[in-house]
Amino acid sequence: MKLIIINGPNLNLLGTREPEVYGDTSFKVFFARLRNSFPGHDLEYFQSNIEGELVEKIQETGFSYDGIILNAAAYTHTSVAISDAIAAVKTPVIEVHISNIYKREEFRHKSIISANCIGMISGLGLEGYLLALTYFIHQESHG
Ligand code: DQA
Repeated sequence: MKLIIINGPNLNLLGTREPEVYGDTSFKVFFARLRNSFPGHDLEYFQSNIEGELVEKIQETGFSYDGIILNAAAYTHTSVAISDAIAAVKTPVIEVHISNIYKREEFRHKSIISANCIGMISGLGLEGYLLALTYFIHQESHG
């Protein structure tokens, strides 16, 4: 399967950014582990702090990839453009958040992208990415 993880703003700082909320593992290290766990699959990673670049990556991958795992980070709560991009493409998108957004400040309780995603995982740490990947891979073998 061809799958991509797309991370939004500030997630390039994972490992050093608020470790009490996001943990102390860098995404680079975690991604290398993920790749090793799913050797038969084509797994890519993209991160950007720029809204338009996230929209472009969703458009670019959204007609040929089998699944997109998206942590839009702060844009989750603000970006109509990202929400529209998810609605515009054919590839199913799973929304992932490392922290439980409902346990945090009220402005994080609203995701404007969820309605266009097939599902959402929030609060399970980096394991959320692994669970989303597992879901796509199971769909392939059972669907
Ligand atoms: C986040 C939650 C967002 O509210 C926040 O802006 C992030 C990360 C998470 O993974 O828990 O940057 O998406």
